[in-house]
Amino acid sequence: MAAADVARQMTEGARNLSLSGHVGFDSMPDQLVNKSVCQGFCFNILCVGETGLGKSTLMDTLFNTRFEGDPAAHNQPGVHIKSNSYELQESSVCLKLSIINSVGFGDQINKEESYKSIVEFIDTQFEAYLQEELKIKRTLHNYHDSRIHVCLYFIAPTGHSLKSLDLVTMKKLDSKVNIIPIIAKADSISKNELQKFKIKIMSELVSNGVQIYQFPTDDETVAEINGTMNAHLPFAVVGSTEEIKIGNKMMKARQYPWGTVQVENENHCDFVKLREMLIRVNMEDLREQTHARHYELYRRCKLEEMGFKDTDPDNKPFSLQETYEAKRNEFLGELQKKEEEMRQMFVMRVKEKESELKEAEKELHDKFDRLKKLHQDEKKKLEDKKKSLDDEINAFKQRKTAAELLQSQAQQSGSQQTLKREKERKNNPWLCTE
Ligand code: GTP
Ligand code: MG
Repeated sequence: MAAADVARQMTEGARNLSLSGHVGFDSMPDQLVNKSVCQGFCFNILCVGETGLGKSTLMDTLFNTRFEGDPAAHNQPGVHIKSNSYELQESSVCLKLSIINSVGFGDQINKEESYKSIVEFIDTQFEAYLQEELKIKRTLHNYHDSRIHVCLYFIAPTGHSLKSLDLVTMKKLDSKVNIIPIIAKADSISKNELQKFKIKIMSELVSNGVQIYQFPTDDETVAEINGTMNAHLPFAVVGSTEEIKIGNKMMKARQYPWGTVQVENENHCDFVKLREMLIRVNMEDLREQTHARHYELYRRCKLEEMGFKDTDPDNKPFSLQETYEAKRNEFLGELQKKEEEMRQMFVMRVKEKESELKEAEKELHDKFDRLKKLHQDEKKKLEDKKKSLDDEINAFKQRKTAAELLQSQAQQSGSQQTLKREKERKNNPWLCTE
């Protein structure tokens, strides 16, 4: 029987029994609380909003402390993410709080890319968690969870409508993080205008399909307050760490020449509503939603991208082992196909090279034959020339011998005549010589 069937049978077939005495498992919730308190909690808030909208002041006001941090420069070439972590304690509960700021958001002339680094940051935290989950040796119980639990989106108090930057950014973020939109510096907008502005913002969010975080109404202990608060969104907040004496009480407020805005006065702004909803009532739900909804979506998409699925093409359950085997076979098949392709390519290349070499060899032979013939012709021409030269030399030699013979004959006849004349002169001394 499959493990899933066994589990189903165990839950479906369970009988209700009554206890005849106290056993002690009613302390489970206390055990859970004690364990959680020991472990401490972590909560990560992402503040997105244009520079100088009062993000840092609101964080200081919300947590009744002063987080260090300098105002951001307005001349950033792009948006970058800055994360600061703090350890806070209230009664016996420790909270590891991280405040993440989108520094330089909305400062660039071209704001098209503004959301990218924020989305990347959120995904990187999901990826880190997924990698930890996929490890053989996991340490999830003391893993420092850096996933973003809530995004406070600061809207400029223009009184008109949302800017396209706000809509685009919220749309890109809404499937990755719980967004709570807030109207910043709400003391700079009149009461009437504020109501209209809130309605306008909500209708724009709806018409653009932006999903903001809804305070949950499924838990009856908080259903009423959460339901009421959902109708107040977006919260119009004022931040201040300055304490002013009002009556005989010190109160957080902003003082102006014309009067005082009390941060914690619900007639002045929605700061208390935000603090209640964000920290006192729904902090755990925000953590849960991050894990169960946003991380789950990221994880599903990532695993599907990697080729994992829960069912096969016939919609039958498909285990991780089967997926692994199928992927392995698919990979091996692809590898074999690639190998065969490469082998064929190699054979083809060898054939090509072989025919190229044969062609070159043939060309060389032809060239050799041509040169050989040329050489033979040249040799023959030279031999003919030599022969004719030899003939000329022989003819010359013959002519020379004949000439020499003639010359010697002429000399002989000349000397015989001289001797004859000598004889005649001796015989006749009166004969004069010429
Ligand atoms: P960067 O970190 O530089 O982007 O600014 P920020 O959004 O953190 O704003 P910050 O909290 O530094 O506040 C900027 C200025 O706005 C300061 O002078 C604050 O005193 C003022 N400020 C903050 N909150 C409010 C508010 O609710 N109303 C009004 N009128 N001014 C506020
Ligand atoms: Mg700041």
